[in-house]
Amino acid sequence: MSSITIAIDGYSSTGKSTLAKKLAKALNYVYVDTGAMYRSVTLAAMQAGAINNGKIDRTKLKSLLKSVEISFQLNEKTGNGDVILNGKNVEEEIRSLEVSKNVSNVAAISAVRKKLVEQQQQMGKGLGLVMDGRDIGTVVFPSAEVKFFLTASPEKRATRRYKELLDRGDNVKYADVLKNVQDRDYIDSHREDSPLKKANDAIEIDNSDMGLEEQLERMLSYTKDVI
Ligand code: C5P
Repeated sequence: MSSITIAIDGYSSTGKSTLAKKLAKALNYVYVDTGAMYRSVTLAAMQAGAINNGKIDRTKLKSLLKSVEISFQLNEKTGNGDVILNGKNVEEEIRSLEVSKNVSNVAAISAVRKKLVEQQQQMGKGLGLVMDGRDIGTVVFPSAEVKFFLTASPEKRATRRYKELLDRGDNVKYADVLKNVQDRDYIDSHREDSPLKKANDAIEIDNSDMGLEEQLERMLSYTKDVI
């Protein structure tokens, strides 16, 4: 069995990371959640006052970028990699709706993408890798051996995300979550640098009416034919 790169891209809240984690476990591969990296830069910018009421101070953000350090650390309890921002575990904090509201505008800035894409390419060198995001199959690893592109209706995706946020005790409204999912998709698909789009050689999966197990089986069976 060879070690390959598996790229999973798609719209917000399509279950990319849940599937990517399961796929990586099944194959004994490393999993990298690139959304967590963009969320971490966003959190750092919010904490440093480089974002106020959704307005980004680009000069402040660019200078902040020099000192932002992002890594992943195994969480013994969950078995997943938690994201570490400047030495602090921010896995919970980066999932808030406030961070979600700002992240796509931060991710549209080329200086941010340049720094994170370089790190992502280094992290994946020579490993059996599953990486999920928006530009993995198109920009980060255009020669990935296996590429998936996930979609689902905005309402299905917002419902999933809404449940996740309620489960962790966040006080959010469904309408706000739906708006955020739609806003992020729009910004992610229309930005100039590395817009979200399906790579020509990616396999598209619409999971509006598909369970996790069925999707995982499909992905595993496709991957096993390649490795
Ligand atoms: O995957 P997740 O929803 O956590 O990603 C949060 C945001 O980070 C996305 O909406 C997008 O703006 C940005 N992102 C990106 N490129 C990636 C991963 C995430 O632009 N590879």
